[in-house]
Amino acid sequence: ETFYLKDYTPFGFDVAQVELTFRLAPEATRVLSRITFVPKPDAADRRFFLHGEQLSLISARIDGAPVTPEVTDTGLTCAVPDQRFVWESEVEINPRANTALEGLYMSNGMYCTQCEAEGFRKITYYPDRPDVMSVFSVRIEGDEKVLLSNGNPVDAGAGFAEWHDPWPKPAYLFALVAGDLVNHSDRMTTQSGKDVLLNIWVRPGDEGKCDFGMEALKKSMRWDEQVYGREYDLDVFNIVAVDDFNMGAMENKGLNIFNSSCVLASPETSTDSNFERIEAIIAHEYFHNWTGNRITCRDWFQLCLKEGLTVYRDAQFTADMRSAPVKRIEDAIDLRARQFPEDNGPLAHPVRPEAFQEINNFYTATVYEKGAEVIGMLKRLVGDAAYYKALDLYFDRHDGQACTIEDWLTVFEDSTGRDLTQFKNWYSQAGTPRLKVEEQFENGTYTLTFRQTTPPTPGQPDKDPKLIPIAVGLLSPDGTEVVPTTVLEMTQAEQSFVFEGLSGKPIPSILRDFSAPVILQRDTSTQERAFLLAHDTDPFNRWDAGRELAKSARIAMVRDGASPDRDYLDALSLLVRDDTLDPAFRALVLAPPSESEIAQALADQGVSPDPEAIHDAAETFAQTLAQTLSDSLPRLFAATLVDGPYQPDAKSTGLRALNSRILSLLTRIDGGEAAAQQFEQADNMTVQSTALACLLTAEKGETQSRAFFEQWQHDRLVMDKWFALKVATARPDRAPAVAQELTGHPLFTMTNPNRFRAVLGALSMNHAGFHQADGSGYRLLADQLIALDALNPQTTARMCTSFQTWKRYDDARQDLIRSELSRIKATAGLSRDTNEMVSRILDA
Ligand code: ARG
Ligand code: ZN
Repeated sequence: ETFYLKDYTPFGFDVAQVELTFRLAPEATRVLSRITFVPKPDAADRRFFLHGEQLSLISARIDGAPVTPEVTDTGLTCAVPDQRFVWESEVEINPRANTALEGLYMSNGMYCTQCEAEGFRKITYYPDRPDVMSVFSVRIEGDEKVLLSNGNPVDAGAGFAEWHDPWPKPAYLFALVAGDLVNHSDRMTTQSGKDVLLNIWVRPGDEGKCDFGMEALKKSMRWDEQVYGREYDLDVFNIVAVDDFNMGAMENKGLNIFNSSCVLASPETSTDSNFERIEAIIAHEYFHNWTGNRITCRDWFQLCLKEGLTVYRDAQFTADMRSAPVKRIEDAIDLRARQFPEDNGPLAHPVRPEAFQEINNFYTATVYEKGAEVIGMLKRLVGDAAYYKALDLYFDRHDGQACTIEDWLTVFEDSTGRDLTQFKNWYSQAGTPRLKVEEQFENGTYTLTFRQTTPPTPGQPDKDPKLIPIAVGLLSPDGTEVVPTTVLEMTQAEQSFVFEGLSGKPIPSILRDFSAPVILQRDTSTQERAFLLAHDTDPFNRWDAGRELAKSARIAMVRDGASPDRDYLDALSLLVRDDTLDPAFRALVLAPPSESEIAQALADQGVSPDPEAIHDAAETFAQTLAQTLSDSLPRLFAATLVDGPYQPDAKSTGLRALNSRILSLLTRIDGGEAAAQQFEQADNMTVQSTALACLLTAEKGETQSRAFFEQWQHDRLVMDKWFALKVATARPDRAPAVAQELTGHPLFTMTNPNRFRAVLGALSMNHAGFHQADGSGYRLLADQLIALDALNPQTTARMCTSFQTWKRYDDARQDLIRSELSRIKATAGLSRDTNEMVSRILDA
């Protein structure tokens, strides 16, 4: 069954209030509901349908009188009064048998829930749609020490707890947690003087890993007050860490539930990137309290309304807490690595999709990350002051409502007077625009001519021109900026912009700060790129010039058997040794483009990418760079060591990132000596895991790998790193066998998504390993996905995306992938989630 945006019809009833009672038992939990429905006088559709899946209905009553509803696999219908009535039901569910991790399930002996998008219907019968908002009261009966739900605590005693959430919410924001947990608590006073209790709940033993998350939470709360004027609105804010979780985290009202990997942190067990990610995800979930919870989505087609905006807000937060240019570069890398392949392949869909079979398949890089880019473009077009004025209006006008993208854009139109009709294409038309640029200079007049085209995507053969904000600056050949950053508004398919009164031909810096999620296509000389790498005043474009040089050097090696480009090697060597440059920036310039990115670039040039050749080129390049820099590496390594106790701040993180890059080069020339020593002396996970990765890549790390295992086998999150590192660093021809062997390891388990992803996700990211010509990588992934689908459809479907780029490769590989995808699709009892994904990937 396919659902369509155009078919939206409101529910025929208001839900005045909801009372739920949970009698917890691992295999037979009883859920009692008491729900007050009020028919809407003007409703077009008055059918009383409640969603419900995998529930055993024990009893149902209306206004106290027993009724016998008509029950199907997906819900129930019943004759109801045409005036306010009370619906009561009792159902039984089995949390222990719930391996899908959706609804109420058990993880390590604790009860927890995941209801977004449509998991509440696995808890009780309910109109499980985001436009039905109501006030919930919850009573939990159970022997667990800690019994939590949304909102404020009302009462608690031996074996029970009661909660009341005064803010109307859709069912997807419902949450319940019960377990023998311990808390790390703190307090915070809001801007208006309200005292809030903050808790992070964890399993005993993890208490020591909560400090950083708590600080991140307090910073997020303060930041949202200062930047968006948004205060917290309950007496308590609870966060719970659970080990088995399909996604990163969930913004349930007043009770955020986190994948433990996205909240627990300690210097000994977490890397710098873990710390940065945890800070960002805590902020993201907290920010949802306003953008998602107080103002929610009318239907799931509007998912980007809350996700795009909240990702944009968490990126602003990270930019403020750390380095804005570094965050922007990281986000561009991520967008190009995850969203561009989606937008240019069989799974392409608009930021606001118009049809789906399984909504869980649309929690994508397009909805989230491109959705955030669209907000960023809007802000750039209207300006900062107008943006915040529009946001104030949005919160004023829509607080307590379930909204659409139309509502969102209307707020901007009303507050700025701008017509956003064309801008809306960003929400409705899929695909990444290509932007071609030509330049002309004559008598002091410089003209930039742009042409935009967006290739067809599934179901959308033709695209209209988009409104593209192109941030441009002009430099003179001596490196001074002659025209500072200006935002050009491109609205036509082809359009020219003129700069007058220039004394000489300038060097353009185009798409500064990555001002639009497009692919810039410009034939530029190596000299000009090297000039920008050395002199651009825009940090993003400075980095991107280096990235373009890196890519063309690599492509020339693979295509034409060229040797590593000398000029680029020299430019890199200069940059790495330039101590006036931010270490974080130098680390980013040194980071090679991914092999998958090179594969895509080759495919775009009409060449079938050979994954082994791409990998060899990467190795040769790194080896040559190491030799070029060999005299400086020991000094650089020593100079970038961070002294003193570990701190996860931006400055130390940047320095360690550079140090890691240097170590990986040094390991290529010193036989692994420095890395072995660093492993030996490491007092934090960043340094320890970097050293291990360098050694394993050099096939010299077996002893250290065993030592690492011995040291950390009790820690699930560190073990995930160990599993992932083994696969990520395996030589391509060995990678499938290494991954296969690890799936038989005693600590491997299918029921923990983090562990499954550690092995199979790492395999699909070992580009040349996954794409081994004998198909062994594909076969292993398909075998594992078929087995996982029976337990956990959501994670299975998500991991099918590893196959989305298959049309890039040669016929032989395409045949192998096609037959694996067909084998998955033919599996008896395949989930709707996986079936939809595999079908879409195969069809294109
Ligand atoms: N709303 C959550 C977030 O953005 C994601 C949860 C989605 N879960 C799912 N099963 N689709 O943080
Ligand atoms: Zn979110």
